[in-house]
Amino acid sequence: MSDIPVLTIDGPSGSGKGTIAQLVAKKLGWHYLDSGAIYRVLAQAAIKHDVDLADEQKLAEIADNLELVFLLGNGVLTVMLEGDDVSTLIRSEQAGNAASKVAALPLVRAALLERQRNFRQLPGLVTDGRDMGTVVFPDAEHKVFLTASAEIRAERRYKQLKEKGIESNLPGLIAEISERDVRDSQRKVAPLRPADNALQLDSSAMGIEDVYKHIMEKCSDV
Ligand code: DC
Repeated sequence: MSDIPVLTIDGPSGSGKGTIAQLVAKKLGWHYLDSGAIYRVLAQAAIKHDVDLADEQKLAEIADNLELVFLLGNGVLTVMLEGDDVSTLIRSEQAGNAASKVAALPLVRAALLERQRNFRQLPGLVTDGRDMGTVVFPDAEHKVFLTASAEIRAERRYKQLKEKGIESNLPGLIAEISERDVRDSQRKVAPLRPADNALQLDSSAMGIEDVYKHIMEKCSDV
């Protein structure tokens, strides 16, 4: 238990949780944890060091010693792995899929638990992921579960990737997102699901501004 406030925003890939979490963190002046980036970097480290994405023991060792640094400046999150900037590399759909695979392994999740909890620093933390409200910060004061239909999420992802100069195709993205949803929500450890006391929002028909307003209303006491 900790007195340091936490707002958790969980949800499936492409629900907008990352954008919202960063906006809210900026508004409140709180720290921000992109937990998905940790799994993405871990998968990248495994690929870099030729470790099989199913080798649970080795992956857990890599997770224990992961040389990972997050730098947040001017609303841009820079992610460094072993001194290299991997911010763009980890955002591809392949990287997301690889992350989803390593994230299904219990020893890997256990190895990354403390690293995530260490982000809980004053004056507060906004965090996004799949199990933030259920496993990593179960005592968080405020919990949000943000979702949207797979089609809408794929369309948003398509636009985001295009803006970053990464080529993709919509039907492929819908299939990948749906596959990732199934893996993330059906795994044995820390599956994607809303915490019992989470505010559940479906952003399919909502703009970022509306979602932001809803969350800030819910957190009006922070
Ligand atoms: O949020 P994201 O798309 O960057 O996450 C990438 C993958 O990492 C996601 O498919 C599942 C995994 N993940 C997880 O298992 N638990 C988290 N808290 C965050 C991400």
